[in-house]
Amino acid sequence: MKIRKATESDLKDVLYVETQAFGNEHGPEIAKLVNGLLGDPTAMPLLSLLAFDDKQAIGHILFTKAYITGSEESISASILAPLAVLPDSQRQGIGGQLIEEGMRLLSESGVEVVFVLGHPDYYPSFGFKPAGALGFEASHPIPDEHADAWMVNELRPGVIGSTSGKIICADVLNKPENWCE
Ligand SMILES: CC(C)(COP(=O)(O)OP(=O)(O)OC[C@H]1O[C@@H](n2cnc3c(N)ncnc32)[C@H](O)[C@@H]1OP(=O)(O)O)[C@@H](O)C(=O)NCCC(=O)NCCS
Repeated sequence: MKIRKATESDLKDVLYVETQAFGNEHGPEIAKLVNGLLGDPTAMPLLSLLAFDDKQAIGHILFTKAYITGSEESISASILAPLAVLPDSQRQGIGGQLIEEGMRLLSESGVEVVFVLGHPDYYPSFGFKPAGALGFEASHPIPDEHADAWMVNELRPGVIGSTSGKIICADVLNKPENWCE
């Protein structure tokens, strides 16, 4: 399995992986979201990575630019959304490797903190912690029953605890329906 940055010519593969991973119900809307984010100037700089098994794209992860408002310090932040692995390739560590490679590259480029709205049983294995309790307000209110799905991970030690505020995400992501769970 190899991971590399996705280029414009990989768009078909990216959208295929997203559609298949999220299935008939959510796949098309997630693919539309990703397509929108890839062309959204407010999402830049973004990091889009594809995982390949031989020549077949089997996983994709996208990180887009975020801002923390109300924080005294200027902190470089990013949001992980979405992460997708083809159904037949799940539970083989591919999602985890995409997260780890993404975090490594973001850290190298100076990103200090990463947010995610996702499965609360999955992301803590990669260092993510409930963000609300740590002082980071999501872009849109998250229903109480999903509060622990809003998580944060620091790439520069000490960011969590020394800063707090509301997170502003890219325009295309900044719609209440993207913040339901
Ligand atoms: C979630 C997803 C990206 C995980 O990718 P993956 O490559 O299968 O994950 P990994 O192999 O790195 O990790 C597997 C472990 O994560 C956990 N896990 C996987 N999917 C999970 C889920 N939906 N909820 C909770 N835990 C999950 C399991 O504990 C699993 O370990 P196990 O096989 O020992 O039980 C993948 O299942 C997927 O694309 N799902 C559909 C789209 C989606 O829900 N994306 C995430 C949006 S936040």
